Amino acid sequence: MMWRNGPDGFGLVSRALHWGMAVLIVVLFSLGLRISSMQPDLSTLWLFGLHKTLGLTLLVLVLLRLVWHRISPPPRPMASGWQVKAAKAGHLGLYLLMLVIPLSGWVASSATGIDTLFADRWVVLPIAPVSASLEATAFAVHGIATKLLMALLTLHVLAALQHEMAGQGTLTRMLRGRR
Ligand code: HEM
Ligand code: HEM
Repeated sequence: MMWRNGPDGFGLVSRALHWGMAVLIVVLFSLGLRISSMQPDLSTLWLFGLHKTLGLTLLVLVLLRLVWHRISPPPRPMASGWQVKAAKAGHLGLYLLMLVIPLSGWVASSATGIDTLFADRWVVLPIAPVSASLEATAFAVHGIATKLLMALLTLHVLAALQHEMAGQGTLTRMLRGRR
């Protein structure tokens, strides 16, 4: 079994991170939309806690993914010319948003002054002072960045499907590792 990426294929670690995080992001997005229309009270607090726990887990995973990129660089691109640049810019945007979204959620939650709990158990260090204006700004950034992520993700999926249909095996190598 290939753990590391090769010159032409994605290894198991990169594929597990890619698909695991994709599922987690979809869950986080749905949960986020649900809680943003809820009043935080004793009966709904656990959903807020779940969203924060999963969101902070995603932050850890994205940092691990970036480290893994250094240890085992991704395979060479399959497209050529402007498509390589577009794919690079798209992937960079996805990484930026995967950092900005959980960080803005963490800043906003810290600014509320309410303890952020991980797994309903450990108090997470606040990374911002208590401030109503900072809370509002960071939640606004959180909301906008999640919408941008969904837009970029739509382009990402369309590009992946288009390359696959053109017979390049792009999706196959992210699923199976090789073409
Ligand atoms: C990649 C990770 C994350 C994603 C994809 C995500 C997604 C979302 C989405 C889509 C919303 C609804 C926004 C709106 O329409 O206004 C939301 C709300 C929220 N998120 Fe996240 N989130 C993530 C990480 C986090 C983290 C790490 C925290 C805190 C530690 C957090 C705390 C919150 C809170 C408290 C709300 C409710 C805001 C309100 O009351 O309006 N999120 N999130
Ligand atoms: C939230 C969901 C997703 C995120 C954040 C995401 C992000 C990324 C990133 C950053 C890469 C570059 C390689 C890497 O650094 O690991 C990548 C590659 C790829 N993604 Fe996604 N992705 C998501 C969902 C999907 C979905 C649903 C599909 C399938 C339809 C898909 C298909 C691909 C393919 C085929 C590649 C390989 C491109 C190549 O061979 O160069 N992704 N993705």
